[in-house]
Amino acid sequence: MSFRHFLNFEGLSPQRIGSFFSKVDQLNFYENIKPNHHIVAHLFFEPSTRTQMSFTMATIRCGAQPLSFPFENSSLKKGETFLDTLLTVQAMGVSAMVVRHGYPESMKDILGVIQIPLINAGEGSSGHPTQALLDVYTILKERGRVEGETVLFVGDVSHSRVAWSNFGLLSLLGAKIGLCSPKEWLPQSKKYKFEYFDTLEDGVKWATVVMALRVQKERHSVIQNFDIKKYQVNGDILKKIKSDAIIMHPAPFNREVEITNDVLNDPRCVIWKQVANGVKVRTVLLKEILKLQ
Ligand code: NCD
Repeated sequence: MSFRHFLNFEGLSPQRIGSFFSKVDQLNFYENIKPNHHIVAHLFFEPSTRTQMSFTMATIRCGAQPLSFPFENSSLKKGETFLDTLLTVQAMGVSAMVVRHGYPESMKDILGVIQIPLINAGEGSSGHPTQALLDVYTILKERGRVEGETVLFVGDVSHSRVAWSNFGLLSLLGAKIGLCSPKEWLPQSKKYKFEYFDTLEDGVKWATVVMALRVQKERHSVIQNFDIKKYQVNGDILKKIKSDAIIMHPAPFNREVEITNDVLNDPRCVIWKQVANGVKVRTVLLKEILKLQ
């Protein structure tokens, strides 16, 4: 007898329950997993369009199955903690976890409790390493090299986890880093060497890569009242950007705030290539982590 509905235990014998539990005993999810039986959990505790969908694409492209977390409808609303949510998903038997969280350096806490592979998809304002991987891959493809490139970060630099992760990878690969930003948004770090530019015009004349950044309002504790237009990559600035330079933005961008429509339409702007490269970079990363190659 197989179940038609399962509503309660009425009419079931102890034998029937026993035979059901025997079938459960026979299931073994955890040995000799075929690529298409790997399940990768995507746990985003913060909004995301491209990173989340890009990881979904990458998971499918490498032959595994994505499992997404219903952030808005989850038991976080019932008081379950971030770490207990991760332990719950780990206990379900997923092969790896892709996690984004709003606290800076939250991955350190997770590493202490999670035994399966973990991929950082953004942690507060401190890091977003797969974005840096796809950005630097894009620089390599579009400019032919990374070492010796002059990469200018514009605008709200200190709150940008994308910028912080890029500093790490660009420094490792021998690129030079320039900053053009209001002093309130200048990153403080003894770890990296920066060139500072007071005007965007001077900065873009130096740069082979111009990286505009979104104003990270959600991370500001005080409202700033300086003129953001001084740091806007717009039509006037476009004329000063080197003819063979590239213009990047991790996105989402706010049109006519940090970057204008004419810049977005310029052939030097490679934002959509960044998005496409993101899927490729994350596919290879997942294949390595799941040991599929
Ligand atoms: C960035 C992020 O979430 O840090 N977006 C992204 O992942 N491409 C940048 C941002 O939100 O400004």
